[in-house]
Amino acid sequence: MARILRHHSSYLFLLFALFLNPVHPVRPSTYIYSGCSQEKYQPSSLFELNLDSVLSSFVSSSSRAAYGSFAVGNGTSAPPEGSVYGLYQCRGDLKLADCSRCIQSAVSQMSLVCPYSYGASLQLDGCYVRYEHTDFLGKVDTGLRYQKCGRGSESDQEFFRRRDDVLADLKTALGFRVSSLGMVEGFAQCLGDQSAADCSACISQAVEELKTLCGSAAAADVFLAQCYARYWASGYYDSSDSSNNEDQGGKTVAILVGVVAGLAILIVLLSLCRKAMS
Ligand SMILES: *[C@@H]1O[C@H](CO)[C@@H](O)[C@H](O)[C@H]1NC(C)=O
Repeated sequence: MARILRHHSSYLFLLFALFLNPVHPVRPSTYIYSGCSQEKYQPSSLFELNLDSVLSSFVSSSSRAAYGSFAVGNGTSAPPEGSVYGLYQCRGDLKLADCSRCIQSAVSQMSLVCPYSYGASLQLDGCYVRYEHTDFLGKVDTGLRYQKCGRGSESDQEFFRRRDDVLADLKTALGFRVSSLGMVEGFAQCLGDQSAADCSACISQAVEELKTLCGSAAAADVFLAQCYARYWASGYYDSSDSSNNEDQGGKTVAILVGVVAGLAILIVLLSLCRKAMS
C-alpha cells in the first residue's frame, strides 16, 4: 500500500514538474523578429493580388504540412512586376493544428509589421513566414538575422560540457531536432527549402555563432536566414525572464489593431450622427 502511494505521489510530482518546466519556453505566437524591405508596392496592384494569394496558400497549406513554398505570377508570359515567392515553416514539434494557428497569426501580423513591403519575413516562436519579389527559394543564405544572449551567465564547468554536447547533437538535425542533457536543453530548426547537407552546414554555423556571440550565457538564440539554434538551462525560462520575453511585436500589433478599430467605430458614429442631423 505504501509502495502504491509512493508510486502515485511520484506521478503527481512528475505532472507538477511538467507544468512548472515546460519543454518549450514560450507560446508559439510569441514574436521574435521581423524584417521588411524599404521598397513599397502600390495598393490594389498585381503584386498585392499575387501576395494575397501566396499568403492564403500559407494558411490553407499549414493545416496539412509543416513547410510549404509557393511562387505566383512568375510564368514566362506573366508581367514581371507581379511575381511573388514565399515560404512558411513551422517548428518541427508543433501539431498541424498548432502550426496552422501559428501561420494564421503570422500572416495577420505581417501586413501590420511590414505594411506594403515588397519583401518581408516574420519569425514567431513556433513558425516563420517570408515572401519576396525575387526568387530566394532554395538559395543558400547563412546571414545572421537575430541573436539574443540571455541575461545571467553560468560559471559551472559541468554546464558548459553539457551545453557543448547538446549543441554538438543539434548539428545532426535533419530539419528539426530537440536535445537535452541534465540541466541543458536546446533545439534547432531548418527551413524546408534546403538539402540535408545545407541544413547541417547552416546549423553548424548557428552553433558556432551561439558560442562566440553569447559566450557563457545561461540561454542563447541565434537565427540565421535559413536555420536557427537555441539552448537554455532548464528552469531558465521559468524565472521572471519569461515575462521579459513577452512579445513587443505582438503588443505593438495589439495596439495598432485597437487604434484601427477605435477609428473605425468613430467614423461609423460620425456618419450616423450626420445621417441623423440631415
Ligand atoms: C516559378 O518559380 C518556382 C520557384 O522557384 C520555379 O520552381 C518555377 O519553375 C518558376 N516558374 C517559371 C515558369 O519560371
